[in-house]
Amino acid sequence: MQLGLFGGSFNPIHNGHVDMARRAKSQFDLDGVVFMVAGDPPHKTLSGNVPAEARFAMVQAALLGEEGLSASRLELARPGKSYTVDTVRTVLAEMPGVELSLIIGEDMLLNLPSWREVETLLKLVRVLVIARPGISGDPEDAAQVLRKRYNARIEVAPFLGKDISSTHVRTCVHEARPISGLVPPGVERLVYENAFYQEEAFAQKQEKLRALLNKKRYEHSVGTMRCAISLAARWGVDGKAARLAGLLHDCAKLPPERLVQLAAQYGLEPDAYEKENPGLMHDRLGACLARDVYGVQEEAVLEAIRSHTYGKPDMTALDEIIFLADKIEPTRDYPGVDTLRVLAEADLESAVLACMERVHAHLLEEKRPIKPEGEAARAAFRNRIEAQKRAGARTDIEPDQKMEVES
Ligand SMILES: [Fe+2]
Ligand SMILES: [Fe+2]
Repeated sequence: MQLGLFGGSFNPIHNGHVDMARRAKSQFDLDGVVFMVAGDPPHKTLSGNVPAEARFAMVQAALLGEEGLSASRLELARPGKSYTVDTVRTVLAEMPGVELSLIIGEDMLLNLPSWREVETLLKLVRVLVIARPGISGDPEDAAQVLRKRYNARIEVAPFLGKDISSTHVRTCVHEARPISGLVPPGVERLVYENAFYQEEAFAQKQEKLRALLNKKRYEHSVGTMRCAISLAARWGVDGKAARLAGLLHDCAKLPPERLVQLAAQYGLEPDAYEKENPGLMHDRLGACLARDVYGVQEEAVLEAIRSHTYGKPDMTALDEIIFLADKIEPTRDYPGVDTLRVLAEADLESAVLACMERVHAHLLEEKRPIKPEGEAARAAFRNRIEAQKRAGARTDIEPDQKMEVES
């Protein structure tokens, strides 16, 4: 049996890692590739301070459904610094007859002579080097030196995959730029749900929200944040504002009695609809809580939270993004949601209108009350877009499927 060992801290694992393993597996005819996740280094923390178990969970999520690729916790369980030669000895002892290949990037090839017991290591394994872009010198030259010096079995494969680094992924998360093309979807979900690689102040807000909302609402909030970050990047809106508003938009989704109390506390007079259903106040009250409980000061963020349910006649791009992200985030599943997702990428205002039309149709069908705020917003968008269409600036959008709305 031919097994590839692919070691690293995977902080976090990204599409480039997965590509590299797939490529090594097919190119060198391996039966499988094992991702050897490094444990936490003693006396220091890795960038982002994400513990080994969480990095391991992300690797597992990334490899779900990947045939022949798996994750090992061998180095996680070992206290202190892990040396590859020890890992290799353990694997060989546990799997007699297996032939091991070490998969490394070209950057590591140059350091190989300084690895512990390198001579022994190179007797025990074959080394598969994946060339990396941006590294000077020919990897074949370095490989040739090692072949001669250690009688090593080294093979070099050209790099064809995506040039992604974990550092770049962490920077994107930190700066509220999307990571959807950089990491597998399961990894993206774990990164955002656990506030990995976020700045401390933001991670604290997210932890507070997680403690106050039920699981489903929390996951919806994180999904809305993810979607808002992507749409912000698409439409040139401040990603950090979108991240904050997306995360906190439903922070006042609390039991009705609590909302009645909060309304009294803030001097908000419920209208006839809200008296009937105090949950309808969660947008207005959400802006109050975002300010007073979560310390949000940006008025643009508070306004996006305030208007996320119905929208309003004049919306900023941030308002539109939060309104939409709430309705089309990844955990939403209703007929027509994919059409809205595509539309949101193509034409923001048309997507907002299509969403409003669907909400309206749904409320009519369910014989539920239609609030004047929603009607005013819908009419304003429709008139504006109709006028633009007449001027030939837009294509037609036919809202053809109903959607579920939150009450
Ligand atoms: Fe909401
Ligand atoms: Fe929501």
